[in-house]
This record gives sequence, structure tokens and C-alpha cells, in this order.
Amino acid sequence: MVTGGAKLALVLLSLLFSTYYAETRNVLLIVADDGGFEMGTYRNKIVQTPNLDALAKNSLIFNNAYTSVSSCSPSRAALLTGTPSHQNGMYGLHQGEHHFNSFDDMRSLPKILKDNQIKTGIIGKKHVGPGDVFPFDYSQTEENNSILQVGRNITHIKNLAREFLSNVTQPFFLYVAFHDPHRCGHTNPEYGEFCQRFGNGEEDMGSIPDWSPIHYVPEQIELPYFMPDTMEARKDVAAQYITISRLDQGVGLLLQELKNAGHSNDTLVIYTSDNGIPFPNGRTNLYDSGIAEPMFISSPSHKERKGKVTYSLASLLDITPTVLDWFDINEGNSINNNLTGRSLLPLLIKEPQDRSKEIVFASHNLHEVTMYYPMRAARTQRYKLIHNINYNAPFPIDQDFFLSPTFQDLLNNTRTNQPTYWYKTLKKYYRRPEWELFDLKKDPEELNNVAGKESFKEIYEDLKGRLHEWQKVTKDPWLCAPHAVYEDKGDYKNEPQCLSLDI
Ligand SMILES: *[C@@H]1O[C@H](CO)[C@@H](O)[C@H](O)[C@H]1NC(C)=O
Ligand SMILES: *[C@@H]1O[C@H](CO)[C@@H](O)[C@H](O)[C@H]1NC(C)=O
Ligand SMILES: *[C@@H]1O[C@H](CO)[C@@H](O)[C@H](O)[C@H]1NC(C)=O
Ligand SMILES: *[C@@H]1O[C@H](CO)[C@@H](O)[C@H](O)[C@H]1NC(C)=O
Ligand SMILES: *[C@@H]1O[C@H](CO)[C@@H](O)[C@H](O)[C@H]1NC(C)=O
Ligand SMILES: *[C@@H]1O[C@H](CO)[C@@H](O)[C@H](O)[C@H]1NC(C)=O
Repeated sequence: MVTGGAKLALVLLSLLFSTYYAETRNVLLIVADDGGFEMGTYRNKIVQTPNLDALAKNSLIFNNAYTSVSSCSPSRAALLTGTPSHQNGMYGLHQGEHHFNSFDDMRSLPKILKDNQIKTGIIGKKHVGPGDVFPFDYSQTEENNSILQVGRNITHIKNLAREFLSNVTQPFFLYVAFHDPHRCGHTNPEYGEFCQRFGNGEEDMGSIPDWSPIHYVPEQIELPYFMPDTMEARKDVAAQYITISRLDQGVGLLLQELKNAGHSNDTLVIYTSDNGIPFPNGRTNLYDSGIAEPMFISSPSHKERKGKVTYSLASLLDITPTVLDWFDINEGNSINNNLTGRSLLPLLIKEPQDRSKEIVFASHNLHEVTMYYPMRAARTQRYKLIHNINYNAPFPIDQDFFLSPTFQDLLNNTRTNQPTYWYKTLKKYYRRPEWELFDLKKDPEELNNVAGKESFKEIYEDLKGRLHEWQKVTKDPWLCAPHAVYEDKGDYKNEPQCLSLDI
């Protein structure tokens, strides 16, 4: 027996339900590994990326997006928590002897979303921990799979995405972290410098049924300004392009799966990468060549700026606030740390009138455990300030980049006093001053350090102040380094201070 009141309640309930379902919102976050900038959308005329270019046409394209750290685990932890590496504790790489982890009490996207009844999935490269901080409901990662299968075999990735999508009955967040176009010459040399031969159908390489390999001619490669123009480097990049095109075809498959599952119309699709390419001046650097990222956001409910470009400064620290905004989750004070990023969704509607005050920040500490080289940076539309905290040490080089043909060639040419065809010398690359300030408008290649120049004093002081403020808000343990010691306990509890070392 259903009373009138109960009937009304039922009607209301079903109304509520139907509104709820009509407003179902999902997220597909696609992240490339070490690069992914090389595509038509970003004016590369050689590499073939029709799927990424089509996604970009349906998206707002970010021309000024930057990672907060150019190193894999720190960047992924920053992406998934909205906090820079010094704030979340992931100071360097997570795997092997490096063994870095985020702090145990971090609130990560998968955790927050789980608490809000959103189903979370990860396919591909996870590379963050501890497990409790990043708890995905569905997980197919390198932790219990071959990274080649979950990160580069696009047919396998497609099948996993299909499995995830076929089972979701609630809003979802699916994070697909490709391992392409990462190097693999130091771990799987049998597949080539970038694992570009893995699954290409040649003898002993296996096959990836959905992949049509595209090959590139080294002489035709478009080298970015920060690469030495040698045949070794050209061959290296040509190999990387093959895996960019594999990634591109993988993205096409994913978007098709999303469509087949009926979720094209209710899913926010974000494409980006974790950090810069593994070439000189790229990954592990805070120069633009290390931190600039591809980014586009395709929203089914924002038609205003599809295929348009934004010049607003965006950070990968903005991804967490953006996803929370999309799901209408207000974590507010329950987030145990200040989020300094912002939601990017308003940009999908309108470009800000005044971009002159915009600023993004970066924080790098290590990469491999031996590579202690903390740096902090602030970047506005026009200027970049870098603080090299450990400036007395040479800039460290990581294992896979060291063995790369490009670096070996650079090293050999330098040793034997041959021309390097590079825009820097290795000596300049290794030895950096404590402060670097660049006028990016006049000097986009960041070659002319104006930090000590009288005419830039005001800009230098302003950026230094804003960087210091950000370090404070994000509780940076390096706040006073290297010339002072930070005291914040005991007598200094109420008024923490930088106490000078007189050096
Ligand atoms: C990997 O672990 C997850 C649970 O964390 C499980 O769902 C998945 O089936 C495992 N995959 C393999 C290949 O064992
Ligand atoms: C997905 O659903 C199928 C049945 O439809 C089931 O066999 C499979 O175990 C489910 N997979 C996951 C990861 O829940
Ligand atoms: C890629 O995955 C597909 C589907 O699981 C499989 O048939 C194929 O053998 C895999 N390719 C390689 C190179 O492992
Ligand atoms: C998606 O939405 C558009 C209008 O916004 C509509 O024309 C189209 O039919 C929808 N497609 C699906 C598959 O629901
Ligand atoms: C967050 O930052 C504000 C200043 O922007 C500060 O007043 C507040 O104490 C900070 N909160 C935490 C938890 O650090
Ligand atoms: C660099 O020199 C070493 C030792 O002479 C040699 O084995 C190697 O092939 C050279 N590498 C390149 C890229 O020229």
C-alpha cells in the first residue's frame, strides 16, 4: 500500500535519480610519458598524429601549459594531488632504489573521488606510491603487469579500457598513462632506443594488431632549438616519433571505446604529458624545454572554444582542481594541504582579459636518488626566474639519458674538441649560477641570464618575492636554503624564521 505522501516521495526520488543520471559526468585523463608535444597541433609538420589533432580540434588547446616538475613520479604525484613535490613528499623517482613516496596523509584524486562514489581506474604507468594514498578501484599497471603491455601495447590498452568501461554504472575517472614515448634503450635495448620496434611485426618483435607503424626519415626530422643537430640526434628523434604515432593511434582507440560505451557526451577528456622529452635541456630541467607540456581539454558541455587556443598560463597542478570542479566536489578545508592550482574549466568558456598577473611555479628536488639538485622556479607570461639551490654542484645526468645516442654523441664530440652542433656547451649545461632570470619574449631559448642586471632588478625582486610566498604557502622545507636555516619549532613555532649562515 503506497500512501500519497510516499508516492510523492517516490516521484521526487525518481526525478532526482533521472536528473542525477542526466548529469552524469566522467573524466578520461590521458597522459603521455616524457614528451608528447610532437604533433601537428603544436606545429610539428613531420610527425603523424591525426587522432591527437582531431581531439585537439574538439578541445581548448593550451599553448602555455607547464609541469611543476620535470621528473616522472614527482610530476605524477603532483598531477594526482594538486601539490608540488616538496609539499607531497615525492622528491624523486618511486621505483627501485630511489624509493620515493608521497606522504601517507596526502589526499589524492583517486582517494577523494572514491569518497564521492566515483569509480576510479588506472591503465598503464602508475609510478607513484604508497598504495594507500593512490587507491584506484580498477588497476592494471606496472605493479603487476609488464609495462610494455599496459603502457605501449595499444591493443591491450584498448581491451583494458573496454573492460573498465563495460563495468561502470556510476560516474568514473579513468586515468590512462601511456609509457610511450619514453626511452627504453637502457632497459630493453632489443626493442630499440624508444621501444619503437616492440610489436612492429618484425621477427621476434611480436605484433600489436591495432598498430600501423609509421617510420620517419632522420633527415626530415624537425629538431627543436634545444637539440644538437647531428645525425645521432636525428635518428634518436626519428625513433621517438615512431612511438608518438603509436601513442596517437592508442588515443584514437581509447576515444572510440569511450564512444562505443556511450560516454562521448558526458566525459571530460584531458590530454597532457608528465614532463619534458629525454633530451639535453629537456627532462629534469626547469627551462621551458623541460617543463612545457602539451595540454588540451575537451568538454561535452563547453562548446564555446572548441579548436581554439588559450595563452593563459596553466600548470599540471591545475589538473586536480579542474577534475574536482568538473565533479562539483568541494573539498575545501578537508584537503590537508593548500592547493595552489586553479580549475581550468572557466578557460573553456572565455579567455581572461588580463593575463599579465598570471604565474606558475615549479619545484624539482631529485630524479634518481643520486641526483640531488633542488630548483624552484616562477614563470610569468614574460619572465622566468630559476633558483638553483645546489648551484655549487654540477647539474646531474640520469642513467637512461646518459646512454642515449644524443648524449653520447654530445659527450664524445666535447671530449675530442669536435663541433657539437648544439646551442650550449656541456660545461655551461653542468655549471649553473644560483639565480637565472630570462626575458622569454626576447630570449625564448633562455640563453641570456639577466639575473644580475640592474635594469631587471625590480622584476628579479618581484619574482623572488612571489616565489618565496608560494614556497611558504606550500610549506617548502627548502624555504631558506641554501644560505639560511629554517627554524619553525620550539621558540620559533609561532614565528618561523630563516636564520642566516653568513655564507
Ligand atoms: C593487478 O592488480 C589488480 C588489483 O590491484 C587486479 O584487479 C588486476 O587484475 C591485477 N592484474 C593482473 C594482470 O594480475
Ligand atoms: C567486468 O565485468 C565482467 C562481466 O561483465 C566480469 O567478468 C569482469 O570480472 C569485470 N571486471 C572487472 C574489473 O570488474
Ligand atoms: C598486444 O596485445 C594483444 C592483445 O592482448 C596481443 O594479442 C599481442 O600479442 C600483444 N603484442 C605484443 C607485442 O605483446
Ligand atoms: C550528444 O549530444 C549532442 C548534442 O549536444 C547530440 O546531438 C548527440 O546526438 C548526442 N550523442 C549521443 C551519442 O548521445
Ligand atoms: C593556506 O594558505 C593560506 C595563505 O594563502 C594560509 O593562511 C593558511 O594557513 C594555509 N593553510 C595551510 C593548511 O597551510
Ligand atoms: C662515443 O665514444 C665511445 C668510445 O669511443 C664509442 O664507443 C661510442 O660509440 C661513441 N658514441 C657515439 C654516439 O658516437
